[in-house]
Amino acid sequence: MSKIKSLWNDRDNQYKYAKWLMQYTKPYIGRIILMMSISLSSTLLSLWMVNISKEIIDNASQGREFGTLIVVYLIMILALQVVGVISGLLSAVLNEKFSFGIRKQVYEKIINSHWMDVKKYHTGDLMTRLTSDAGNIADGIIGTIPAIIQLAIELVLVFFMLFFYSPLLAVFATLIAPVAGIVSWWLGRKLKRLSVKVQESEAAYRSFLQESLANLLIVKSFANEEYAAERLTELREERFHWVFKKAKMGMASSTTMSIAFQMGYIVAFAYGAILVSTKAITYGTMSVFLTLVNRVQSPIMALAHQIPKVVSILASAGRVMELQSIPLEEKLPVEMDTKQVGLGIKDLSFGYSDDIVLRDVSLDVKPGEFVAIIGESGIGKTTLIRLVMSFMSSLQGDICFYNQGGDSLRANASTRQFIAYVPQGNTLFSGTVRENIRMGKLDATEEEMYDALKLSAGYDFVKNLPQGLDTVIGERGHGLSEGQAQRIAIARAFIRKSPVLILDEATSALDEDTELAVLQGLKQLEPRPTCLLITHRKSVLQYCDREIKIENKRTMEM
Ligand SMILES: Nc1ncnc2c1ncn2[C@@H]1O[C@H](COP(=O)(O)OP(=O)(O)OP(=O)(O)O)[C@@H](O)[C@H]1O
Ligand SMILES: [Mg+2]
Repeated sequence: MSKIKSLWNDRDNQYKYAKWLMQYTKPYIGRIILMMSISLSSTLLSLWMVNISKEIIDNASQGREFGTLIVVYLIMILALQVVGVISGLLSAVLNEKFSFGIRKQVYEKIINSHWMDVKKYHTGDLMTRLTSDAGNIADGIIGTIPAIIQLAIELVLVFFMLFFYSPLLAVFATLIAPVAGIVSWWLGRKLKRLSVKVQESEAAYRSFLQESLANLLIVKSFANEEYAAERLTELREERFHWVFKKAKMGMASSTTMSIAFQMGYIVAFAYGAILVSTKAITYGTMSVFLTLVNRVQSPIMALAHQIPKVVSILASAGRVMELQSIPLEEKLPVEMDTKQVGLGIKDLSFGYSDDIVLRDVSLDVKPGEFVAIIGESGIGKTTLIRLVMSFMSSLQGDICFYNQGGDSLRANASTRQFIAYVPQGNTLFSGTVRENIRMGKLDATEEEMYDALKLSAGYDFVKNLPQGLDTVIGERGHGLSEGQAQRIAIARAFIRKSPVLILDEATSALDEDTELAVLQGLKQLEPRPTCLLITHRKSVLQYCDREIKIENKRTMEM
């Protein structure tokens, strides 16, 4: 979080955010200009109407016919409504497309980046960036920026029109501009920090919501309902604090401007009244004066109101860009025969922080070999697997996959394609059993699914489910027992028929007989995969060709 603050203080970064936004906006420019032209035409139309209203008043006060002009005026009012509807719809569609565009780009970025780097962010924080921040950016690009350009054009047009009627009045009316300028400058500076704070407090609030709902069982088991509700209120209050501060700042500025606005209007009004009393101008011209003074001042006020929005777009752009700067995973082309693959690890060292978890680990697992990896809890077994899976980047040493033909390939994101992995813990998705198994092989046939289930000892229980493969399961396998969920996760891996299979305590929730059946299924896989089995259970060891123990940050052969 402090990172974003320092990013924000750096002026170069603001240019970077703006540049990023520009580059991102490019494909939408045509449509944004179309939307702006439509709105601009309605501005022109309404200015024209000011003139017509003057004619109507003058004609009426001088006893001339004005019925036709009233009809024209009416038609213009209707036309204005139509234009309003069109531009409203267009901006709604554009906003939706644009915000989804950002969300998709960021989502793709997240799923293609190193798992470890993404995991540094809380899911709730990522969600806030993907939804609220992306939405802020879309509102800004589709709403605020075109509005600013339009208001500026309108201001110039109205100013010259007023200038045409009365130069003095035009100058009076724009007197509000410096006031608005100073207020917005002051406001913009204050708002920078507040906008980031508002988004950060939103992220904290969402993170808590997401986590406490996902772990509802824990909240309830420890009778923490009241505490959870209090914590939520606290987080909401924190957010409220910043939102309110932002709102107060906004109110102070708009009140200042409103007073300046009223002053300008009264001056124009008095000046107009004097001119009317001396018969220097007609009533019609007086009405044009008042309308135009109003219309010079409102874009200035509106422009000033856009400043906080621009600030919050930049703040959100910074938060989204921060995700963009996470390095993408390296994906090397796989140009070797991967029917049977061995794993070579050489002098591997790794630590999540300065604390080393694994030091100078070397290991050779021959193609088709079954290797058990054992060691006490927290020693680094899962870490070793994560490195083999290339989920982490900052390592020293070498991990490579090789085939019998002597080709080898350094482990990278692409080498995951020939590994089937059953992670520790429940990793099922909500949806049907079928959808879960299919994640292992997107084009799997029903027969293949049943075959995989047979090998993972899950066939009988899935067959007995009321809807079989189409049984709907909840989040994290809700609705299944832990062991049933494990067998589906194993089937999801088996169906891949990958040359490398990694099971991280994948049978820990199974009874001995079922575990035995799974391991026997494993042995029947054809061709025989290279297998890494992490286990705490002795019964698994008899199925393995070798046993590797991790101790004192190193591996040793047992
Ligand atoms: N994401 C992480 N960030 C920082 N440290 C981590 C992270 N994940 C694990 N560790 C630390 O790395 C060490 C090894 O953890 P690892 O998960 O590899 O253990 P393990 O051998 O798989 O244990 P278990 O048998 O309990 O699953 C532990 O000290 C753990 O605290
Ligand atoms: Mg582990």
